[in-house]
Amino acid sequence: MCRKRAPAAAREYAAESAASRLAYTLVALKRAMWRPPQRIRWKPAPGRWPSAEEAARSLLFSPIAVGRMRLESRTWVPAMVPWRATEDGLVTDENLEWYERFARGKPGAIVVEATGIRDIPSGPLLRIGHDRFLPGLRELVRTVHRASDGRTRLLIQIIDFLAIRRRPEPEKFFQRYLEITPSHRARIGAEDWPEQRVREHLARLPQEALAGILEPREIEALHYGYRERVSDMHLPHIRDLPQALPDLFAQAACRARAAGFDGVELHYAHAYTMASFLSRHNDRPDGYGGPRAHRARLPLAVFRRVREAVGDDYPVGCRFLAEDCIDGGNTVEDTTYFGVEFARAGMDFLSLSRGGKFDDAKQPAIGWAAYPYTGRSGYECMPQYVSDERGPFGRNVEPTAAIRTAVRAAGLTTPVIVTGGIHGFEQAEALLAAGKADVIGFARQGLADPDWFEKVRLGCGAEVRVCEYTNYCEALDQRHHQVTCQLWDREALDEPGVKKSKDRKRRLLPALWARRGP
Ligand SMILES: Cc1cc2nc3c(=O)[nH]c(=O)nc-3n(C[C@H](O)[C@H](O)[C@H](O)COP(=O)(O)O)c2cc1C
Ligand code: SF4
Repeated sequence: MCRKRAPAAAREYAAESAASRLAYTLVALKRAMWRPPQRIRWKPAPGRWPSAEEAARSLLFSPIAVGRMRLESRTWVPAMVPWRATEDGLVTDENLEWYERFARGKPGAIVVEATGIRDIPSGPLLRIGHDRFLPGLRELVRTVHRASDGRTRLLIQIIDFLAIRRRPEPEKFFQRYLEITPSHRARIGAEDWPEQRVREHLARLPQEALAGILEPREIEALHYGYRERVSDMHLPHIRDLPQALPDLFAQAACRARAAGFDGVELHYAHAYTMASFLSRHNDRPDGYGGPRAHRARLPLAVFRRVREAVGDDYPVGCRFLAEDCIDGGNTVEDTTYFGVEFARAGMDFLSLSRGGKFDDAKQPAIGWAAYPYTGRSGYECMPQYVSDERGPFGRNVEPTAAIRTAVRAAGLTTPVIVTGGIHGFEQAEALLAAGKADVIGFARQGLADPDWFEKVRLGCGAEVRVCEYTNYCEALDQRHHQVTCQLWDREALDEPGVKKSKDRKRRLLPALWARRGP
């Protein structure tokens, strides 16, 4: 049973929906993403596919316990936002159909996309911050269990994020957004000027001159758009995050349980609030920043409150970063520590991602918000086929294996999930056999072919549609367009009953698998 506490005050989320903005082409987007300068072109190499008998004997298709939950196979589809919720965060038919399509492939587990824990507007992202979201979420659970014949466990990723605004028109920035301070006035010798004159003066200054007048965060707000940080202690709602977040996460987890989800994944990864608490850049002076143990304090407090609320028998784990992949960010030295602490606290699984930070994101165009997957760390999160000598396949394996080793050395058996560029059976099986991970995540490969799991299990691996790691899907995500895969979204577009994207140019789901052999 879920035990409730008084609800924490929800704060205004200032991010604006960009769903209706269709100004940029995908070609332009691809250019906007960072790629390693070596520009080596890689082709996916799925290797040999197993026969049905070999698959049946494999580790990959053997069951595993994740807390009290049993996965039929060690395959996992990590969270992927498909941009199919309503503007109010409710589950749509398109959401149901999306997850139903994945469930037909019968992976061991699917994690539903990052779902907001607050009851505040956040565009077409799923939300779980109020009981009114429960009917849609219940239907989602029923749909997945039915479509997978009960073979797929369904978890939901629950997330908190801070405010981020679009990059402003410089004119508007100086006229409206910039707060004129005595320091600005002193630096330009304008102590007794009317405010409007100060604004007009600043707006006319060249960049170099502004650098000596505006604060670094003001320059950032001008060039990238304003973005909150967990260390903004002057903002009461940021200062109070350690008091507010445990209850917000716990209430969301209770709703997940009430909706019938098989478990919850706390989102402690990428560019969002909890990962920012874990980050080496978190210098909060209140005991929740600075040394590693302090940075882990709130993530552990959130987990304990969630555990207390949902009970010991309900699977709860987290997704966090094996490496931040930014200058001065967390390395495996930090993340092995976090992994052991999370496991010791009683988390049921640890799912590892990497990178995806705002710190090195590219400057957005005016009118767009910064996107945390456009810099080097973004590349590390979703590496694409244009790469360096290491290539895009399995870049997260060794750091994840280091975390697993540390967890095992601490005497803990918590399952560890590795994700990143994994698309072949042999590759996945070898990782499990070598003890690098316990469960294998297939995100983009699952999107390219949701039937990967059934095809491989049944000895039909030759029929797999192999992901080419082009990141076309990720570019759609970046523009908040409905996510599809370029390998199937133009196929048989005129077939009756095919549901199309808002621009009518793409089908929203891959066609059903028509088995050819064996
Ligand atoms: C369209 C898209 C949406 C994603 N949304 C999420 C998300 O909501 N939460 C998350 O933790 N990761 C998200 N990711 C990252 C994936 O879960 C995964 O970590 C990443 O794609 C690397 O794995 P892969 O190489 O198997 O694709 C997303 C990835 C894609 C392509
Ligand atoms: S669009 Fe398809 S092929 Fe390209 S990376 Fe995404 S899932 Fe893979």
